[in-house]
Amino acid sequence: MEKTLVLLKPDAVQRGLCGEIIARLERTGLKIVGMKLMQVSEDLANRHYGEHVGKPFFGGLVGFITSAPIVAMAFEGNNAVSIVRKTMGATNPAESPPGSVRGDFGVDIGRNLVHGSDSPESAVRELGLFFSADELLSYGRATDSWITE
Ligand code: RTP
Ligand code: MG
Repeated sequence: MEKTLVLLKPDAVQRGLCGEIIARLERTGLKIVGMKLMQVSEDLANRHYGEHVGKPFFGGLVGFITSAPIVAMAFEGNNAVSIVRKTMGATNPAESPPGSVRGDFGVDIGRNLVHGSDSPESAVRELGLFFSADELLSYGRATDSWITE
């Protein structure tokens, strides 16, 4: 079953929006299989954002994600990567539609509240950075057959 990494970034924690964002992701039917409040180290930030090294916003990105606690989450389900991305909205909140997390709660591309892996391959890599194998749980829900055929 596909898994994806979600980060509720420091702005989501500071603004008290974690519950709101988690509720939206939970309502999709995806299953929470990992979750923790954590402070991201510089080393972890550099590895997580490795694809952006050299871009003008890289320093700000690492500075921001390490500035205050985040919530790291793993969601599981069919099409988990694309469903999370759709729920988050576009990278820039100004271009993100109403009904999306970034469209409803953001105004600035550098304060867009949430991260979601952009492909199943990225998800495997990123989940390995943020979670150890024993922190990702496997369990059934009574509702599973009402969510997935
Ligand atoms: P994320 O990785 O956070 O889920 O966001 P994303 O895939 O939608 O966007 P990505 O291209 O991976 O960029 C990572 C984060 O870098 C910041 N960014 N700033 N100033 C800029 O032009 C710019 N471009 C990207 C955003 O905070 C974005 O979430
Ligand atoms: Mg990205």
